[in-house]
Amino acid sequence: MKQFPPSDLLNSLPKQFFASLVNTVNQFIQQGYDVINLGQGNPDQPTPSHIVAKLQEAAENPVNHKYSPFQGHRYLKQAVAQFYQREYGVTIAPDTEVAILFGGKAGLVEIPQCLVNQGETILVPDPGYPDYWSGVALARADAAIMPLQEENHFLPDYSKLTSDVLEKAKLMFLNYPNNPTGAVATKDFFDETVRMAREHDICVVHDFAYGAIGFDGKKPISFLQSEGAKEVGIEIYTLSKTYNMAGWRVGFAVGNSSVIRSIELLQDHLYVSLFGAVQEAAREALTGPQECVKELTALYERRRNVLIDGLQSLGWQVTAPAGSFFAWLKVPAEFSSAQFANLLLEKAHIAVAPGIGFGQFGEGYVRVGLLTSEERLKEAVRRISRLEIFKKHVDI
Ligand SMILES: Cc1ncc(COP(=O)(O)O)c(C=O)c1O
Repeated sequence: MKQFPPSDLLNSLPKQFFASLVNTVNQFIQQGYDVINLGQGNPDQPTPSHIVAKLQEAAENPVNHKYSPFQGHRYLKQAVAQFYQREYGVTIAPDTEVAILFGGKAGLVEIPQCLVNQGETILVPDPGYPDYWSGVALARADAAIMPLQEENHFLPDYSKLTSDVLEKAKLMFLNYPNNPTGAVATKDFFDETVRMAREHDICVVHDFAYGAIGFDGKKPISFLQSEGAKEVGIEIYTLSKTYNMAGWRVGFAVGNSSVIRSIELLQDHLYVSLFGAVQEAAREALTGPQECVKELTALYERRRNVLIDGLQSLGWQVTAPAGSFFAWLKVPAEFSSAQFANLLLEKAHIAVAPGIGFGQFGEGYVRVGLLTSEERLKEAVRRISRLEIFKKHVDI
């Protein structure tokens, strides 16, 4: 059969680092090994039942069987504004400052095409969520990395960016609570970000995917809580993590109205908005009972404690994440992140994500997801203990 080669644009997309890892993990599972998969970021809990019930009810309504309004239902945008007011004390104009998205990923990948021309520069955190790179490639833009390092609490150090890079940069991605490092941002850092973005005319895109997941009683802050943030950027929120709705594909962008307008313009050309019943359920999630969110965060915190306490008791010097559902663990010096991930898979049947998959500054770490039960996390610690890599060896 004739083969039609992909376009140069498709060929320029970054290679999916984790695809081969997923294959290897699947091979182990097919061979019958009991693999504890801590490598992925797929929430393991179901969507709260009141949200599912709303979808069921709304699916019966013939109004929702028609095309939705192109830019989404106004009631959902109003729900978003209500959510931001209630959770963060931030006032959002529903008609001009909210764009409805098919999940956060869609927005993150669309934004460079909305605002950046070929050859212009986008600042990207390293390590970082790989989809930022996809957006850069689709816009035929250039990326300049902002290293996230432990000595700076995994926040970018703007003073290290050269004036040349700052001059060329049009857009910047940030993400706190952070995937993969589990770090959270401070108000001071976001204030500094606003100042820097204003001075250099950079649009800030803060990916707030893990906004609901902060530990030790500390609620993660929104970028939009910083004065002037709306002038210089937007925040992208998703219902995937907060309400265990990853499969539903619903999120939104909030903030600077010119950016929101551009997102909606691009989306007008790409899609009609989400299924109306999903929009009704999303409104229910944002404005209905929030007990489920507290319970979910408490669940992740218990799992974090089991994992981190367990690993520390083996003598592995690991740091507890302050937010997100990931732990970012330094690997022993004699291993690369890929070697250590392979060792855990082959010898302990535990899948983790090697840090190098998130960028060069991810080397030396592995990312471990808290998306399995406390029992399985304890079992993972027991299996690691048997490898006798770390000094202390105690029963758990
Ligand atoms: C940092 C980060 N941003 C955005 C997303 C996108 O989530 P969704 O497309 O489900 O909204 C994810 C999902 O894993 C993520 O980890």
